[in-house]
Amino acid sequence: MNPERRIFLLGAAAAGALAQSPDRIASAVIGTGSRGSGLLAGVIEQPNARVAAVCDNKPDRLDKAATTAARDKPAAYTDWRRVIDRADIQAVVIATPPHLHAEMAIAALRAGKHVYCEKPIGVTAAQVRDLVKAAKASKSVFIVGQQLRSMLQLGECVRKIREGAIGDVIWVKAQRHATADIPHDSSSADWYFNVEKSGGYLIEQSVHNLDLCNWVVGARPARACGFGGNAMYQKGDPPGRTIFDSASLTYEYTNGVKMSFTQNVFHPRTLPLGSQYVHVFGSTGAVDLMTNAMLHPLGRDGQPRLLAEKRDEPRHAHVTAFYDAITKGSPVPAGITEGATAALTAILSHEAMVKQQVVRWDDLGVEL
Ligand SMILES: NC(=O)c1ccc[n+]([C@@H]2O[C@H](COP(=O)([O-])OP(=O)(O)OC[C@H]3O[C@@H](n4cnc5c(N)ncnc54)[C@H](O)[C@@H]3O)[C@@H](O)[C@H]2O)c1
Repeated sequence: MNPERRIFLLGAAAAGALAQSPDRIASAVIGTGSRGSGLLAGVIEQPNARVAAVCDNKPDRLDKAATTAARDKPAAYTDWRRVIDRADIQAVVIATPPHLHAEMAIAALRAGKHVYCEKPIGVTAAQVRDLVKAAKASKSVFIVGQQLRSMLQLGECVRKIREGAIGDVIWVKAQRHATADIPHDSSSADWYFNVEKSGGYLIEQSVHNLDLCNWVVGARPARACGFGGNAMYQKGDPPGRTIFDSASLTYEYTNGVKMSFTQNVFHPRTLPLGSQYVHVFGSTGAVDLMTNAMLHPLGRDGQPRLLAEKRDEPRHAHVTAFYDAITKGSPVPAGITEGATAALTAILSHEAMVKQQVVRWDDLGVEL
């Protein structure tokens, strides 16, 4: 045998043996589509994890995931309940469509497993309420995939703002605009356009932006109102569409902060102020939080300055935080309270625009 190939084989065998080590957290990824594949790569990179199982009800995605994780020789399941039934599996990563998150996460927590649950944790207040109860009753680690909370530069900005860098936070203007609808033939098209499965753009996507707003304001909304609808893509485009394509919303926080938030999927690429931003206004200045971390002081002579330096952001920092919480007991950057608050913020405003009424947080009936 070619000596180089022999060395390679010995190396691969050693790596395989290491990956099988019982010291590594036996993990399963449920839902190995677009996001689940990325998270699977993150799990494989962790020195304290191994992939014991992968699960997807689409056989092609399941095969692809099993191949990606071949080092760890994972079992492959199309039925997620078989993963929950495996007593040796210690941690599950859930990256299925949003309406399935609460049911799967609750079953995993009740079976004593640690849970990394993609956002949003639920698409209805009842799903959020049930998962909050299960997570609070469990001793396992629960993290929600709101990975902005693991970003170093953003975290430093939020900390400095909360410490008074712009005085008291008094007002927020934020948006999540895109240049087009998600592709009508994308891998998620079989659930995305159904409001009961995804929750719609506001609940499925803006939950990240709303979480960031809650984090920097240091509170949660008390009530919301606003309007939404289909300004560009009509109902039935694509067939089965029940989600809105745009929204214009207003929130009042428990600490009095007011926020204006807009969402659309028809912002031309060349029109200024596209994409996503969170402008945080304080009594002494404002910060452009998502775009460039610049602080703009109030007053005629105020010169913009950088609030926090750009940092090397590890690609899988949030997955690392999950395993650090399991193995070292470190706090998770986004736990059940942050996940539930973000989901409920989105659900609150979704209900407001569907009912065309002011909806109060207390009406959602969820104790946090
Ligand atoms: N945190 C982030 O930045 C981020 C980014 C993208 C997506 N997401 C979230 O990840 C989740 C998945 O999104 P996606 O873009 O990967 O969608 P996707 O459609 O590409 O993947 C979902 C996968 O779940 C599988 N699935 C559906 N029902 C299942 C079941 N009952 N049992 C097992 N598998 C099942 C599908 O076959 C599919 O492969 C969503 O909640 C989404 O909001 C998060």
